[in-house]
Amino acid sequence: MILDISPCAAVSEARLQQRHDRLGAIGATPRGGVNRLALTATDATAQAMLVEWAIERGFRCSRDEIGNLYIRREGTDPGLDPVFMGSHLDTQPTGGRFDGAYGVLAGFEVLEALADLGRQTRRPVEVVAWTNEEGSRFQPGCMGSAAFTGVFPLDRLLAAKDHDGITVREALAAVDRATPLTSRPMASVRPAAYLEAHIEQGPRLESAGATIGVVNGIQGIRRLAVRLLGVEAHAGTTPRAVRRDAVSAAVAVIGALEALLHDAEDVVRFTVGRMEVAPNSPNTVPSRVDFSIDLRHPDAGMLRTLGDRIEAVACDTARTRRCTAEVTQVSHVPPTVFDDSTVSLVREATRTLGYPCLEMPSGAGHDAMYLSRICPTGMVFVPCLDGVSHNEAESATAADLAAGTRVLAAALVALADG
Ligand code: GLV
Ligand code: MN
Ligand code: MN
Repeated sequence: MILDISPCAAVSEARLQQRHDRLGAIGATPRGGVNRLALTATDATAQAMLVEWAIERGFRCSRDEIGNLYIRREGTDPGLDPVFMGSHLDTQPTGGRFDGAYGVLAGFEVLEALADLGRQTRRPVEVVAWTNEEGSRFQPGCMGSAAFTGVFPLDRLLAAKDHDGITVREALAAVDRATPLTSRPMASVRPAAYLEAHIEQGPRLESAGATIGVVNGIQGIRRLAVRLLGVEAHAGTTPRAVRRDAVSAAVAVIGALEALLHDAEDVVRFTVGRMEVAPNSPNTVPSRVDFSIDLRHPDAGMLRTLGDRIEAVACDTARTRRCTAEVTQVSHVPPTVFDDSTVSLVREATRTLGYPCLEMPSGAGHDAMYLSRICPTGMVFVPCLDGVSHNEAESATAADLAAGTRVLAAALVALADG
């Protein structure tokens, strides 16, 4: 495979860094991170900044029914399906500057590098900022790519509510008012291929001394919601033997699940990341606890089997505390295997550019897992400091970010000229 790497030389490390600094200032936290939850005013401001940059460069912007933002540079044959690059602008509540932002800015830098060179591609090229990848404010995550690829019906996603009862539909209307854009129905465009650049969010590249991760797939992810119900009672007068204490049940259920999902090899990943207690008063025995489960495994069968055991363990354990448990599945994404041809292309681009690399699956979820269901998909990872992510301390070097962008550029040009 002979790749045209001439556009890689036009990738500007300084410009990419400057764009990260400007985007990272939107929703910046005092501890150096970013809080830019999906479809908030902060998210809208970030989108507006990106649109302004795009307009300055003569790229066209549009938005679809779930709020995915598209930035398009035309190809010599505008009738052909475009090649997509992208990631997300939303963050965790205590997120970092690179998770998501890097994939969008790397894609944008590729567009700018091509424009600087006056290098036309045969196919149009689009950068997409997918809506609500994180799934912090609205569930499920990867909402924009799930809608785009038809994994969940649009109406169901638009009706999802945040903790304050605001729906995606309402939040989206506010973003639309803040940054009105041409609307483009998602059904009117199909990508010929999709590439996503991302920080690794784990320690493997750094420990191996590799600059690039050639990603061959994504481990499977199941999200569940657990509700434990007891009865409110006076904290001072109600004997413990008759209490129906939902927090006491939650402690027991989570302990039982920790035991069930314990894995000496540390392959099973089990996280309870969100918990809500009602009525949340110090002197009332709690009547309700809601908590989230995030379960991950690279093997589809193991993920199914382990996830399927959760409900019975939760219900049986809750009963020992005279409470009841309801378990609902929020999403189940089996492990993703990327298309061989796209993985080979990313590998070849990395080799041609001479970067030390590691071939690896992704431990984190990405919009690429849904895109891979409808088109050849690949990902490029770069290292992050100490493997830390979903943390305000997230950090990556300008040189590594630029290296990943050059790999992205070489692979993109091959796909867009194909
Ligand atoms: C993405 O942020 C994930 O949860 O893997
Ligand atoms: Mn991400
Ligand atoms: Mn994330």
